[in-house]
Amino acid sequence: MPLLFRKVNELRNYLNTLRCEGGKSVGFVPTMGYLHEGHKKLIETSKLQNEITVVSIYVNPTQFGPGEDYERYPRDLNRDMSVCEELGVDVVFAPTDEEMYPAGNSTEVYVRGLSEVLEGKFRPGHFKGVATVVTKLLNVVQPDRAYFGEKDYQQLKIIERMVKDLLIPVQIVPVEIVREPDGLAYSSRNVYLSSEERESALSIYRSFLLAEKMIKAGERNAQRIKEAMETYIRKHPHVKKIDYIEITDPELNPKEEVQEGDRILVAVWVGNTRLIDNWKVSL
Ligand code: PAJ
Repeated sequence: MPLLFRKVNELRNYLNTLRCEGGKSVGFVPTMGYLHEGHKKLIETSKLQNEITVVSIYVNPTQFGPGEDYERYPRDLNRDMSVCEELGVDVVFAPTDEEMYPAGNSTEVYVRGLSEVLEGKFRPGHFKGVATVVTKLLNVVQPDRAYFGEKDYQQLKIIERMVKDLLIPVQIVPVEIVREPDGLAYSSRNVYLSSEERESALSIYRSFLLAEKMIKAGERNAQRIKEAMETYIRKHPHVKKIDYIEITDPELNPKEEVQEGDRILVAVWVGNTRLIDNWKVSL
């Protein structure tokens, strides 16, 4: 079993002894737990690139808005510990709220601009919560490398910007999206979906294939591609609402004409579950 720490100071002391012993490289995978194949890919990548791999499991309250799924977010530390054991994780950090937000806590990290678009429009305050908790976690673990999935592409871009701006000495390593065999991107929130809803949720992945087909046939107009995707997704019975379908350059600036390397980003409500996904354009 990996070593489990719940206290900042205990984890710090342990990692300091390891670092003193022989300058071992530390890879860090921050998660909210309920680990799936997407998280596993991050952990495996860290295992390949570092001597020590630390995984954090913390459902961070400050990144959930009022009325969102903080209370019902799936949690199972025993299962997560077994997954970590199988993958050879060295250390799991599962802090309490008091450890992460000590009494009187009043400092926040906000990445302007990038936090206001796309997800930021629909989840005000979300990225402030993410940036703040990731800063704290990086300060505790002080890893050489930290792993973030492209599944949350905007989050990845915000963390890259933040680390640059705040001169945090860590290398951010992006990891490609892991999908189920039928194309649905792995997410801890997929457990909310009924089997009929899951079928409707596949429309997101299939709309990316539709976009790719249009692009391969020569279509470059972003508006027309977005409209075709929207029409396709809306046909599915459990799709309640589309928050956005956007096409941007790799830095999240909206595009009118698509180009190699652009991103198509989507947020869709299927039943009461909000799903996000994205796709890299290749010509
Ligand atoms: P969580 O949703 O648990 O995701 C943890 C990491 O796993 C993120 O970097 C996310 O992008 C990555 N991930 C999730 N699903 C993936 C998939 N299908 N393929 C590849 N990577 C995937 O993201 C968070 O937690 C939190 O916001 C956190 C960064 C931990 C801060 O609280």
